[in-house]
Amino acid sequence: MVEVVLVESPREAGQLVARSIIDLVAAKPDAVLGFATGTTPLVIYNELAAAVKRGECDLSRVRGFALDEYVGLSEAHPESYHSVIERDVIGPLGLDPNLVHVPNGALDSIQHAGQDFEDAIIAAGGIDLQILGIGTVGHLGFNEPGSSLSSLTRVKTLTHQTRQDNARFFGTIDEVPMHSITQGLGTILRSEHAVMLAFGESKAKAVQRAVEGGVSASLPASILQLHRHATVLVDAEAASRLENLTYYQRAWEQKMVWQRL
Ligand code: F6R
Repeated sequence: MVEVVLVESPREAGQLVARSIIDLVAAKPDAVLGFATGTTPLVIYNELAAAVKRGECDLSRVRGFALDEYVGLSEAHPESYHSVIERDVIGPLGLDPNLVHVPNGALDSIQHAGQDFEDAIIAAGGIDLQILGIGTVGHLGFNEPGSSLSSLTRVKTLTHQTRQDNARFFGTIDEVPMHSITQGLGTILRSEHAVMLAFGESKAKAVQRAVEGGVSASLPASILQLHRHATVLVDAEAASRLENLTYYQRAWEQKMVWQRL
């Protein structure tokens, strides 16, 4: 079962996941993290940045892999995920930029960029903890509805809805690239621990289908049901359509101390 954790606020979700990452890095200083971009995971990055600032943890040996990147957008563009990861993650968390990989969306090498990225993840020994957000269409990374359940990093065409959702970062929808390069659903399934966050009513339908619906390429986040260790943290709005919420709450409250997130 996907573990569902109902939180009182996005901040609480950020604190729980940050704590889990701090514990992981204490045990394994060169742990491998998977980074989502977008608005949702910022609560985690903010908590980690504050912990680093207070001297509570040192993340300088942590290795990282971003989930995705736009194709054909210059790395220097402020909304490229290279820029976003540098701005929101590498800088604030004090990571070594040489240890953080973002898929290469440059057109001249795009044909082998997916394989290169997969090779780099394997060379690092795999991802220990993968941070995820969910799109209103139910995507993970940029694995849009219809994505193969065993897909690896590759180029995907973005749906109109995703381009519309991300237009807020660019100004107009026309400026949002048509294509992305994204870790596949199979790549995400290989991670040791997949942690998805979702906040707000706009995510409620996708969350319900991901956690309680059938496993289907039509709702890519439903692959979390196939993951051996998947945690979904939701606020009350994102959880509002879950049918078994009372049970998830009870399971969380009754969890034994040694069973961490
Ligand atoms: C981006 C990514 C996407 C986002 C999703 C939700 O790296 O992986 O799947 O997580 O589109 O975006 P926000 O958090 O902005 O609602």
